Amino acid sequence: MLELLTRFSAGFRRYFVIGPACKLLEVFFDLLTPLVIARMIDEGVGARDADAVLRYGLLLFAMAVIGMGFTLVCQKMAALASQGMGTNMRSALYRRINEFANVELDRFGTPSLITRITNDINQIQLAIALGVRQLIRWPFLAVGSMVAALLIDLKLGVIFLISTPLIGLVFWLVMARCVPYFKQMQAKLDRIGLITREGLSGARVVRAFVREDHERERFRQAAYEQSAVAIAVGKLSSILNPVTFLVMNLGVCAILWMGGIQVNVGDLTQGEVMAFVNYMTQTLLSIVYVANLVVVFTKASASASRVNEVLHCEPSITDEGNTAVELPSAQQVTAGTAAPALRFDAACFAFGDAQANTLDNVTLQVNAGQTLGVIGGTGSGKSTLVSLIPRLYDVRSGAVEVMGIDVRRWPLDQLRHVVGTVPQRASLLSGTIRSNLTWRDSHATDDELWAALECAQAADFVRKLPKGLDAPVEAGGKNFSGGQRQRLTIARAVVGSPLILILDDSASALDFKTDAALRRAVHARSRQESAAGGLPLTTVIVSQRVSSVRDADLICVMSHGSVAGLGTHDELLKTCPLYEEICLSQLKREELGGTAPVPAAPAPAQAAPSVPVQPAAPNIPNLAFEGGEAR
Ligand SMILES: Nc1ncnc2c1ncn2[C@@H]1O[C@H](COP(=O)(O)OP(=O)(O)OP(=O)(O)O)[C@@H](O)[C@H]1O
Ligand SMILES: [Mg+2]
Repeated sequence: MLELLTRFSAGFRRYFVIGPACKLLEVFFDLLTPLVIARMIDEGVGARDADAVLRYGLLLFAMAVIGMGFTLVCQKMAALASQGMGTNMRSALYRRINEFANVELDRFGTPSLITRITNDINQIQLAIALGVRQLIRWPFLAVGSMVAALLIDLKLGVIFLISTPLIGLVFWLVMARCVPYFKQMQAKLDRIGLITREGLSGARVVRAFVREDHERERFRQAAYEQSAVAIAVGKLSSILNPVTFLVMNLGVCAILWMGGIQVNVGDLTQGEVMAFVNYMTQTLLSIVYVANLVVVFTKASASASRVNEVLHCEPSITDEGNTAVELPSAQQVTAGTAAPALRFDAACFAFGDAQANTLDNVTLQVNAGQTLGVIGGTGSGKSTLVSLIPRLYDVRSGAVEVMGIDVRRWPLDQLRHVVGTVPQRASLLSGTIRSNLTWRDSHATDDELWAALECAQAADFVRKLPKGLDAPVEAGGKNFSGGQRQRLTIARAVVGSPLILILDDSASALDFKTDAALRRAVHARSRQESAAGGLPLTTVIVSQRVSSVRDADLICVMSHGSVAGLGTHDELLKTCPLYEEICLSQLKREELGGTAPVPAAPAPAQAAPSVPVQPAAPNIPNLAFEGGEAR
């Protein structure tokens, strides 16, 4: 907690001085009050002097007003410090989360990161506000009251010496048992948050699978567990008030009894006894408040360690020291002297500390303007393979190169600008179509946006929206169909003219005709880029559909994280039984288009492609296959 306070207190230190200073002045007036009341009783009430009562009454009123003024200033300081520091902490946390590579995001998990940025920082803000307002008040009030009482009479102080430690002991015993419960309560609250989020974000699926009762039961169970802990804490702490007030009232009785004797013998005045009673009440109540502060700080310190855990976690993927990469010229590409646009060199990858590789020894290369098709069963590693290209993950061994340069040597911004990715799960943010399309290029003109929408086969439906490019997009793109969302994410990746476009199963929600039209448009775009003297677009199409990849210059067949076959459609039909199997599961044998039966020995998996280098070669999908696939 201290570490967080030190780190984020710059610019707020004055609030930590002014706030408590005002609180101290307020405490000063609080401490004076019993003395003034004592005078009022002795000189006014005792001597039946109405003027003295009025005079002291006015003095008390003035002291209350001034005290309130200091309180207001202190409240403001507390609000400025807690809100300001909380906002800075949130921003720092958000910034750090955005720097995280997928490895760190996988490690923490999204729900936990959301809880840390909301609930945990709220706890810290509460502790900061209470710290400014109360941390100095109660200890000072307790000590000040004790000193003031002892100054009135030392003998009565014995009662203090007995009652104060007694209350302190009771609190210590109760709190020591409560603190572990507080930590548990935080964890249970996390779980309620997680279930609520899951239930609400997946409400449609829950309803579709008639899982409402199950979800309600899950929520009820989580809420019950949380309430059980809260009740246990409540039961424990419920003994605090009766015990505190019992000790306090017994102390008051003892003071009145012993004080009465001293008043009789003339050692003390009635007012002084009343002041003593007030001081003792203030001291004991202060201890109660200090104990409450301990609870708040305990919770905040647990939250602070969760926030620190994120802040201290260094992103595993950084581009420190990497200088801008010089791209090859269009002439180099045309002459065939440019490095391959994309190259995997014995790339191995595993998630986290897993022993077994999710990707094993992948070797392939694609030249600029060519299309790489990636096909394979679910879980075979297709998405993992393409996630290495924009460096969402780093290889465990081997290398991935873009334009001949290892992705680890690219500045991340430049790499991710050059590589346009359409993730498997289409995700849009709340805003407008325009705000979603301009992620890669915030200065893209309307013409560029419409060209991207045309390419993604999304222009027709966007044109029909009343507000066109400014049509609203709800969180997650919920107001669009799955296919529309996919097309918008494709358009988003095309804006800003990437040199490598990765379509990760991005046409799964599109009908075959639209899928084919999309591929044609992407190739047309690549040709246009070349014709205009730019670098042609290299495309990586990940798909489960043979029709989507069969016209690719190179097809990579993935199986259990390894390359099971590499080549063109015709080559693979001869060399890769798995590819033939996939084709036959979707097409009739006469639709395969291969020329020879499968030979006895399959080609080595990591063989370099035997595809001729034909940059920007027209590559129009064979539409004869549309609708001819077995579904
Ligand atoms: N974040 C992750 N953490 C741990 N394991 C993962 C993670 N993402 C994927 N995997 C595992 O890696 C393997 C490959 O997953 P991947 O998503 O690359 O498959 P895929 O071929 O794209 O499948 P699909 O066709 O269903 O999209 C799977 O066994 C999967 O369980
Ligand atoms: Mg996938």
